[in-house]
Amino acid sequence: MLPEKKQVLIVDDEPNLRKILSAQLTRDGYDVLTAEDGEQGLERLRDNHIDLVITDLKMPKVDGMTLLKEALRLDPDLPVVVITAHGTVDTAVEALKSGAFDYLTKPFDKDEVRSIVAKALRTKELAGAEVSAGAPSSDARFGIIGQSQGITDIYAVLERVADTPTTVLITGESGTGKELVAHALHHHSARKDKPFIKLNCAAIPKELIESELFGYERGAFTGAVGSKPGRFELASGGTLFLDEIGEIPVEMQVKLLRALQESEFERVGGIKTIHVDVRLVAATNRDLKKLITQGTFREDLFYRLNVVPIRLPALRERAIDIPVLVEHFLVKFNERLKKNVGGVEQDAMDVLSNYAWPGNIRELENVVERAVLFSDGAKLRVQDLPPELRGSTSTPPPAVGDAPRDLAISGDGGLKEHVKTAMSRLERELVGRALQQTGGNVTHAARLLKISRKGLQLKMKELGLREGASEKGD
Ligand SMILES: Nc1ncnc2c1ncn2[C@@H]1O[C@H](COP(=O)(O)OP(=O)(O)OP(=O)(O)O)[C@@H](O)[C@H]1O
Ligand SMILES: [Mg+2]
Repeated sequence: MLPEKKQVLIVDDEPNLRKILSAQLTRDGYDVLTAEDGEQGLERLRDNHIDLVITDLKMPKVDGMTLLKEALRLDPDLPVVVITAHGTVDTAVEALKSGAFDYLTKPFDKDEVRSIVAKALRTKELAGAEVSAGAPSSDARFGIIGQSQGITDIYAVLERVADTPTTVLITGESGTGKELVAHALHHHSARKDKPFIKLNCAAIPKELIESELFGYERGAFTGAVGSKPGRFELASGGTLFLDEIGEIPVEMQVKLLRALQESEFERVGGIKTIHVDVRLVAATNRDLKKLITQGTFREDLFYRLNVVPIRLPALRERAIDIPVLVEHFLVKFNERLKKNVGGVEQDAMDVLSNYAWPGNIRELENVVERAVLFSDGAKLRVQDLPPELRGSTSTPPPAVGDAPRDLAISGDGGLKEHVKTAMSRLERELVGRALQQTGGNVTHAARLLKISRKGLQLKMKELGLREGASEKGD
């Protein structure tokens, strides 16, 4: 288990100063670790969960500025307070510019130390809380997290259609966020203070769908002892979300079409025509066009629903979003499960990024929840992940600088040739992986590799990689 107390690391080459400072902070209720130079400081940082660093600037081996930069590289939210001697404020300013949280001047004033430490730790907590709100400005507009093209395209559509009465049809595999988008449409419309009513068409027996949708009058069927409004009426002025619309029986589709076209209907067993103003959002993970050819979905209803289609990409088509999603769920489950997992180790993130996620974001969410629950380290490790994920990865690409194991030094060709062969093999592997991660989407793979799409196409040609059949229309 992680310690309850906050861990403070003190790095200073003066033993006396370490002693005084650590005695005070221990008294104030912190766990204190010390290091006598920058090098040892870095070691402590890598091996421990540290909440705050207080470091001298002038030290043997690795100096304070280097320690500061490296510490922030490891954890950009880590507060680092630097210690300066009187008359060396210039170096403190330089440290602040490089991201130090604040500075303390020697000799210390106890209260100043206390207040800076408390402030630094509070700021760190707030930084974490911002992530939990999903970094709303850039990464999570409409509460939908992602930076991939697939998701930013959806932001653009949402922006245009959220505040209109237009019918929207959301499609996508299970767990891709269809319901989340339906909510977003409602909450970003002028209807947001009116009801959002949901009906899962797959969850109700066929014979009850009509009365669920349109309500019924007393005596409409055996058991109808009173009258009841349906979801259309309940959603009046608001949004009606019909989930799993592909499961709605054909007989009902005609009635639904009429209700949509005329904005009117009758309750089951009723004679009065009811008018409502309802915005309809429908979702399905079925291929409705296929259902049309099979005769189980009406073409006219399809066109009526499909005014604005939103297709949610599968997670494997937008693997670049996996790290931000993981971070989002990490914060969420840390909070919910009262844990303090600070991140994900690189090899665990590789496993997460390379898995195919048939259950999409819901599956990812469950995996992170489980991993956070069982984790007893500062970061999630590969062993915290379920075995089926670990099994699914191909061998990781060799680290750069790691010679391929099967590299044979034969008589022909010198070092240069061997390096060239090894490099192109590595390149091929990395490009192949990027394509695999993005489901063969060249545009997305290029973004992942930080090269232009054209550049990637040339590279693929050079490496003898064909544009995959799985590439989605770009
Ligand atoms: N882009 C996203 N950012 C953050 N959370 C997401 C995102 N997409 C989906 N989720 C979360 O993943 C889970 C599944 O999403 P949702 O229920 O909307 O999927 P769905 O497509 O309706 O699935 P199903 O077809 O199985 O009903 C939810 O907890 C949702 O909040
Ligand atoms: Mg759903």
